[in-house]
Amino acid sequence: MIDLHIHILPGIDDGAQSWDDAVEMAEMAAESGVDTVAATVHSNLPGKPDPREAALYLKQLKEFRQILEEEKIPLTVLPGMEIFAGEEFLKRLQKGQLLSLNQTRYVLMEFPMDVPAAEIYRVLFETTEAGYLPVLAHPERYFCVQKVPAHVYEWYQMGIVIQINKGSILGRFGKKVQRTADSLLRHKIVTVAASDAHSPYIRTPDMVELKEVLRENYGESVRQRLLTENPRRILRGEKTLRTNPVPYDYS
Ligand SMILES: [Fe+2]
Repeated sequence: MIDLHIHILPGIDDGAQSWDDAVEMAEMAAESGVDTVAATVHSNLPGKPDPREAALYLKQLKEFRQILEEEKIPLTVLPGMEIFAGEEFLKRLQKGQLLSLNQTRYVLMEFPMDVPAAEIYRVLFETTEAGYLPVLAHPERYFCVQKVPAHVYEWYQMGIVIQINKGSILGRFGKKVQRTADSLLRHKIVTVAASDAHSPYIRTPDMVELKEVLRENYGESVRQRLLTENPRRILRGEKTLRTNPVPYDYS
């Protein structure tokens, strides 16, 4: 399995807070069957644009890889960021101050929870126009999607990669988020599921329960596509596997 969205690098964001946390998270991920992660730290957060962001990140990534090697933890850690789609993010991405997923054209993007749908459409168009392939982080958590999940159908049809969270599927963010995640899965408009883990205690990288729930509720092929095949393709810069989505019928 591959975890495309995890806050495992310490000292940069609200994810792992120490090397011990990071190592514990790596062990947990590996034990639950994950062999590769993209260490996606929060970046470009409002009020904190830091031109050194990518350089600091890469230094930390290098150190983490060395620690994992010394500790003999079988986990490959690839570069990536969860980029807040605020002002100037495209310019900063083009300058190399922000990082795409494993140096591909795929970019993991997040919005504030109360973002209007129109703003997501605008940014997705703009990002696609600039030659990038947006990976939309946890749309099921955005209020506009909870109200009108059909927006995600439109984004999926635009070729946007839709990434939902483990915690959403398992009900850790409440019933509304869980129902929305279920709706997206039943309409076959989800490309990837990831842990979005922040610590070894709550919001963890353990994937065992998610794997089982996906298989039981949506089938083995969905589990395989969302947790292994599509994240692998994304990290290689390849096209993802897509299904025929089920349109929303509001009549
Ligand atoms: Fe995240």
